Amino acid sequence: MYLLDCDTGVDDAVAILHLLGSGAPLAAVTVTFGNVSAAQAAENTLRVLHLAGRSDVPVAVGGESTLDGSPTRHSATLVHGANGLGGGALEPSPAALLDEAAPELIVRLAHEHAGELRIIATGGFTNLARALELDPAIAGLVREVTLMGGAALVPGNVTPSAEANIVADPLAAASVLGAGWPVVLVPLDVTMTHLIEHDDWQRLADAGGVAGSAAAVLDGYLDFYAGIIGRRCAAMHDALAVAIALGEIEPELAPRAHVEVDVTDGPGRGRTIADLRHRYRGYAPPVDSPVRVVLEARTPLVPSLVERILAF
Ligand code: BDR
Ligand code: CA
Repeated sequence: MYLLDCDTGVDDAVAILHLLGSGAPLAAVTVTFGNVSAAQAAENTLRVLHLAGRSDVPVAVGGESTLDGSPTRHSATLVHGANGLGGGALEPSPAALLDEAAPELIVRLAHEHAGELRIIATGGFTNLARALELDPAIAGLVREVTLMGGAALVPGNVTPSAEANIVADPLAAASVLGAGWPVVLVPLDVTMTHLIEHDDWQRLADAGGVAGSAAAVLDGYLDFYAGIIGRRCAAMHDALAVAIALGEIEPELAPRAHVEVDVTDGPGRGRTIADLRHRYRGYAPPVDSPVRVVLEARTPLVPSLVERILAF
């Protein structure tokens, strides 16, 4: 059983479609801030589920503030457009949000599916950290937590060292990475290697329907990456985390490592410090760490992602 925690977001939207298209059982989607406010991300999530014909999936939203109340950026407008969906005009959903808040729902589902719940988190990690605050015992109940976030051996994408989902709420990230539950961290090291290309986008656009709507959502996101990479394409960060959590992509290299988060106010704020010294000769591997850091995942994601969206 899966639970997705996200900040929908263009690539979160694609990740939702990839997850739904897999047919994997999905207990709920919980929503946090990051790319946009939690309220906007929740609205976007409802619309994406409606687009996919899955308005039955329960959606709960979390709060708008970080664990310690420190300011976060509620805007990745340049990347995800003003509404977080790249300006793509998805139809409003007839479904409403649950009354239950996201952290409470996570706790409840961890108990209801004890030993079976796999959480995939593709936004800031505040909801998960709040759930751990409410009930630390869930760390022993959740089967696996797959996090899209961090930059182990590569630069950050918000600051020179910090990745967006970590810097959204560094204290929350530190709490989730240190909770003791089994974590698979899917950082920029690998997500920046899974790019949807313009030709893939064109196939979606030409197909119309759900795929055409997905292309409309993706359009400006490819323009943003064109400025970085030099051609129209875009990183499928969140969908890669979903594919790894589903077992569709088996990483070639995912060592266990202690991972700390810089929660200071200095230039390293939000940096993930993964202890990978065992890659040098002479250091013992940190076999006791419950965190695995994905450093290589070479099975292509995008062809199956595109086919899956075309199949809606
Ligand atoms: C992450 O940040 C967000 O902009 C994306 O949705 C993804 O989850 C990449 O750093
Ligand atoms: Ca995201």
